[in-house]
Amino acid sequence: MQRVTEPELMDERSQAEAYALADFNEAHSRIVEAFGAYFPGIELAGNLLDLGCGPGDISFRFAARFPASTVIGVDGAAAMIELANQRKARAAATGERVSFIDGLIPGAAIPRIPYAAIISNSLLHHLHDPRVMWETIARYAGGDTLIFVADLLRPPSTAEARRLVDEYAAGEPDILRRDFYNSLLAAFEPREIEAQLAAAGLPGLSVGVISDRHLVVHGIRG
Ligand SMILES: C[S@@+](CC[C@H](N)C(=O)[O-])C[C@H]1O[C@@H](n2cnc3c(N)ncnc32)[C@H](O)[C@@H]1O
Repeated sequence: MQRVTEPELMDERSQAEAYALADFNEAHSRIVEAFGAYFPGIELAGNLLDLGCGPGDISFRFAARFPASTVIGVDGAAAMIELANQRKARAAATGERVSFIDGLIPGAAIPRIPYAAIISNSLLHHLHDPRVMWETIARYAGGDTLIFVADLLRPPSTAEARRLVDEYAAGEPDILRRDFYNSLLAAFEPREIEAQLAAAGLPGLSVGVISDRHLVVHGIRG
């Protein structure tokens, strides 16, 4: 099935609010677990950069899991950053170690500081030009920065995409089911990402499929 892009930013207020209210507890706790599985025994300390952070759930989860870290989340949708900052104001335990930048990647004012890790969940499939992801990683990662990019996996057919929506988003609001379906069609296949990594000169990164709808790119820039 050919890739069908979706709007890059999630900047409709209703869309951002539905996303922020959705229950991603299980899915996002699996993302943090997957980081631990790909980088066993690693206790991150220092700065983490979360690309396409949305309302910040992954940023807060990494801040909670790694108490010696500070997390900078970046998103180009003002509605998402507003929700992330509202959550920061309520997050007593982690709020001080998490900050957010409203900025479109590339071009966002991301600090040029050492990053212990660059993480990203569900941004890659939004990018009309995926080189944006890999060039941003190449620009901000040092030689020992751990890179962890989780995303959806494009299914082989629209029928399979519909089946995945029915299986995993059965009781969700229509706006979320629509976004999930569109995101599945906009996602990449592993071989496409492998070609992107080769073109970007990132030989230290590799692609793994972790479920019927998710993949992870991990490693160091090499
Ligand atoms: C599906 S959401 C994922 C949010 C968050 N990472 C999570 O896992 O909950 C994708 C986010 O990427 C943002 N985004 C898409 N393209 C972007 C770009 N070029 N620069 C910055 N943010 C972008 C969207 O606005 C949206 O908030």
